[in-house]
Amino acid sequence: MLSWRINRTLDALIGRIERTTALDPVADKAAALLLKPLDASTPLRNALSGTAAGHPLHPVLVVVPIGSWLGASYLDLTGGPAARAAATKLVGLGLAAAVPTALSGANDWAYVRGAERRVGFVHAAGNYVAIGLYAGSWFARRRQHAALGAALAGGGAALLGVTGWLGGHLSYARGVGVDTTAFDGASADWVDVLREEELVEDQPTLVRDGRVPVLLVRTGGKLYAIADRCTHRGAPLHEGEFADGCIVCPWHYSKFRVSDGQLLAGPATRSQQAYEVRTRYGSIQLRHVDEPGSLRTDPVR
Ligand code: FES
Repeated sequence: MLSWRINRTLDALIGRIERTTALDPVADKAAALLLKPLDASTPLRNALSGTAAGHPLHPVLVVVPIGSWLGASYLDLTGGPAARAAATKLVGLGLAAAVPTALSGANDWAYVRGAERRVGFVHAAGNYVAIGLYAGSWFARRRQHAALGAALAGGGAALLGVTGWLGGHLSYARGVGVDTTAFDGASADWVDVLREEELVEDQPTLVRDGRVPVLLVRTGGKLYAIADRCTHRGAPLHEGEFADGCIVCPWHYSKFRVSDGQLLAGPATRSQQAYEVRTRYGSIQLRHVDEPGSLRTDPVR
């Protein structure tokens, strides 16, 4: 009963943040500023997104500052005077690690809109306040004000609990950072999608495997098909720029090879699902034999 009430209260609270459009002018301006250098530099987008790692970088990096800072508080509570120097070092380590962590988070946030952008804005603002508290804690400790340093760190830890919960909501409830095709089923049987004569060479065309949108293209006389929904934030890839056997996402410029869906440039971190294609009696058919996975099973199709 109690857990149900807590759950409902938290849902109401997050719903309020998601609907607070008053945040939009500032949040949209900040996102536009961030997108300028990101749009201009593929290496920067790749690095901050975690493209090489195959998963978003931010959730990995947060472990270092949070772990360091909570370790410092643990020493404050249990270590006594002998552990003060170690606690100060841990707070400093957390502050240093907070820089790349915040940059990767800002990168992820720049690519969301609406409710996700508002929640992310509050998440980031809270984290910046927490970083300020830990910076104050570090200076206090360096000036031998151990009690003040511990109190500021305690305040930072409490705030991190709130912002961490908001970050969890973004990932687990709103799906930010999740491959947008993760729940797409695909037909293991051959499906007719288009007549051969309807497909124009080098023109990416939207077809459907059941309800799943698929990008179909013929280039150099060969047929290729990959999932049309960009794994990053779900853009329709068939509207992107096609050249040299690659499609560039129309929203944030991730680049994918159409022959196998391979991701070549971020901010996406996941490749596109590729389909097998063949022609039978003038009809183009496709199928995708997937790894068995319960979340890719669509009972309705
Ligand atoms: S939706 Fe962001 S790169 Fe495609």
